[in-house]
Amino acid sequence: MPDPLFQTIGIACDHAACDLKEHLLASELLAGYTWLDFGTDKDGGSVDYPDYAKAVVKGCLDQRVDCGLCLCGTGIGMSMVANRHPKIRAAVVWDKATASLSRKHNNANILCLGARLIEPKHAAELVKLWLTTPFQGGRHQKRLDKFSEFS
Ligand code: RB5
Repeated sequence: MPDPLFQTIGIACDHAACDLKEHLLASELLAGYTWLDFGTDKDGGSVDYPDYAKAVVKGCLDQRVDCGLCLCGTGIGMSMVANRHPKIRAAVVWDKATASLSRKHNNANILCLGARLIEPKHAAELVKLWLTTPFQGGRHQKRLDKFSEFS
């Protein structure tokens, strides 16, 4: 068995995605990974998704986790916040192609899912695919190198 790309994963959600987070953490498909849960939970009431996206980003930057999984209603708000940090490449994905290509071509280090738009079983399959798909490097790395060039 090859070394896993990612072993420890930071996960967070807002109030719109608590059920999805619970489903993923209990999923047999995702058993064997170590999860660091940055909240929120069902008792937390209505929360602000930027606070939770930032917690996952910080976990990645501090290297407490190898990558992140951010869950909100659409995945969009979490991705917008996470992508404000230059070391983060957060991708909203919704099918196998976007899950796979966000790793192969974009070397995404945070996966964002929309709990209001995706079935939990499908979400677990996409997370597994994303966690096990390597970056292809080469010409794609050259493109990533240009992300922060705004002259
Ligand atoms: C919360 O209602 C909702 O705005 C949030 O979960 C997310 O979809 C934002 O992008």
